[in-house]
Amino acid sequence: MAEEAAAEAEFVVEARDVVKTYRRGGTAVEALKGLTFGIPRRRMTLLKGRSGSGKTTMLNLIAGLDRPTSGSIRFEGRETTALGDAELTRLRREHIGLVFQTFALLPTYSAYENVDLVLRIAGLGVRQRDRRVREVLSLVGLAKRMNHRPFELSGGEQQRVSIARAMAPHPGLLLADEPTGELDSATGLGIVRLFRRLMEEEGVTVCLTTHDAAVMALADLTYEIVDGRIVGEVAGANG
Ligand SMILES: Nc1ncnc2c1ncn2[C@@H]1O[C@H](COP(=O)(O)OP(=O)(O)O)[C@@H](O)[C@H]1O
Ligand SMILES: [Mg+2]
Repeated sequence: MAEEAAAEAEFVVEARDVVKTYRRGGTAVEALKGLTFGIPRRRMTLLKGRSGSGKTTMLNLIAGLDRPTSGSIRFEGRETTALGDAELTRLRREHIGLVFQTFALLPTYSAYENVDLVLRIAGLGVRQRDRRVREVLSLVGLAKRMNHRPFELSGGEQQRVSIARAMAPHPGLLLADEPTGELDSATGLGIVRLFRRLMEEEGVTVCLTTHDAAVMALADLTYEIVDGRIVGEVAGANG
């Protein structure tokens, strides 16, 4: 194992010259105009930019939810643009946790059931699932609210459920698209601090998008995106 750790690359994700052009009717929208950057291991990286700058597009490409028009994206050294759809889906399911601005929880399921579902899909047995569901819900501070459904929880609590769900299958990389976008600033900072704790305690690499400058103070590294280009790179106080 020591050899494996020594061989670990510095970056979990390496993007090179990534271009994404959307075609809408007869017109082309150049959402990404050649992004080159890395997501360092066991750190918190931000993609920061205004609405429309290309943050969600980039995150979706890393997650394999969409494909770049040109350029290269390596995940743990593997070129993901060369993978077929089934392989891409498998890579996402096994190695990447996704968190969204609007939580995307199933409304009729309890917190417990929302988290349990992804472990069922992953094919875990009932005992293993039960242990991990309780573990991750405790980790995010919701041990006492496991049986509540989303409408019985605050926005911050719902986001914690969605983070627990993303963490349940032990992903190496957690991608969160504007995870604080629907929350007041104090609750939002609590969520970002939770990401830091997960990074420290579970060793997960975190990459999130934001347009909130306050979040930068808690990040190790921030890439500033303007109109589909990286215009700056800032090492945070933690970096
Ligand atoms: N599916 C799509 N089809 C066409 N244009 C899109 C699509 N998704 C995003 N865009 C455009 O790409 C640009 C970047 O969008 P997006 O990545 O959502 O930015 P952000 O997440 O930073 O707000 C915007 O101009 C947006 O309108
Ligand atoms: Mg977005």
